Amino acid sequence: MNTTSLRTAAAAIAFALLPGAAGAADLLSQQCVACHAIAKPEKASLERILERKGPDLYYAGAKFNQEWLVAWLQNPTTIRAGGAMFVHAVKPGADRSVDTIDAAKVAPHPKLSAADAKAAAELLMALKPEGLVTAGAHKGEPGGSMASMLFSKLRGCTSCHAAKPGDPPLSGPELYSAGARLQPDFMLAYMKDPQRFDPHTWMPTLGLTDADMQKLTSYLSTLKNQEKK
Ligand code: HEC
Ligand code: HEC
Repeated sequence: MNTTSLRTAAAAIAFALLPGAAGAADLLSQQCVACHAIAKPEKASLERILERKGPDLYYAGAKFNQEWLVAWLQNPTTIRAGGAMFVHAVKPGADRSVDTIDAAKVAPHPKLSAADAKAAAELLMALKPEGLVTAGAHKGEPGGSMASMLFSKLRGCTSCHAAKPGDPPLSGPELYSAGARLQPDFMLAYMKDPQRFDPHTWMPTLGLTDADMQKLTSYLSTLKNQEKK
C-alpha cells in the first residue's frame, strides 16, 4: 500500500467514527456523484467535460478552504454565472460575451444541513491526489501594487473571470471570493497549468512567469467577497 492509499484508508476510518459520517459518505457516493467526479475520471475526453453536470471534486481537498465549503454547502450561490459549466443551459446574450444561465434548465444546487455540510466537507477535504498541487508553492508575499493590474488589465484574466460582484457573467468561475474559497497553492497550480487538472479545460495555459503567478495569487487571496447573489 502506498502512502496515498494508506492516508485515504486512515481518513476513511476516521470518518467512520464521526457521528453522521456514514450518512455523509452515502450522500457523496449516492447523490453528489450524479453531477460531480469524486474520483479522477479514467478517460478525460472532451465529451466528458461537455456532458458533466458539475465541476470535478476529486481534488477538492487540495482546492477549497474547508470553512468556505461548510458554509457554501448549506447556502450554495452561483460561481459560474456565464454558463461555461452549463453548456446545455445557456441563454445567449445579445452580445455572446454576456451569456447567462437559463435558470429554468438548471435545478438549484442541493442544500445540506449544517451537520451534513460539515461531514461532507470533511470527506471532500480528504480528496487530495498526489502530484497536482505543490504545497508551499505560493510564497505568501504581498502582491504589491502591480498585482491587481496584472489581473484586470495586463494578463487578460478579467475577460473570463468576474473580479467583483455585479460584473457581467463570464465563462470562468468568479474570483472575487477566491481568497475565501480557494487555497493559494491551488490557485498557483491552476494558473500554471490548467490542463493538468483536465486536458480539455477551457482555461488556456497562459505562460505566466513565476513572479506574476506569485503576485496574482497574493492578489486573489485578498478577495473574499461573499456577498449573496
Ligand atoms: C444536479 C447536479 C448536482 C448535484 C446532485 C450536486 N451538485 Fe454540486 N455543483 C453542481 C453544479 C452545476 C455546480 C457549479 C455551480 C456554479 O458554478 O455556479 C456545483 C458546485 C459544487 C461545488 C463548488 C465546486 C467548484 O469548483 O466551484 C461543491 C463543493 C459542490 N458542488 C459539492 C456538492 C456536494 C457535496 C453534493 C452532494 C451533496 C453536490 N455538490 C451535488 C451540480 C450538482
Ligand atoms: C479564456 C478564458 C480564461 C482566461 C483568459 C483565464 N481563465 Fe482562469 N479559468 C477559466 C475557466 C473556464 C476556468 C474553470 C475551468 C473548469 O472548471 O474546468 C478557470 C479557472 C481558474 C481558476 C480556478 C478557479 C476555480 O474556482 O476552479 C483560477 C485560480 C484561475 N482560473 C485564474 C486565472 C487567472 C489568474 C487568469 C489570468 C492570468 C485567468 N484565470 C485567465 C477561463 C479563463
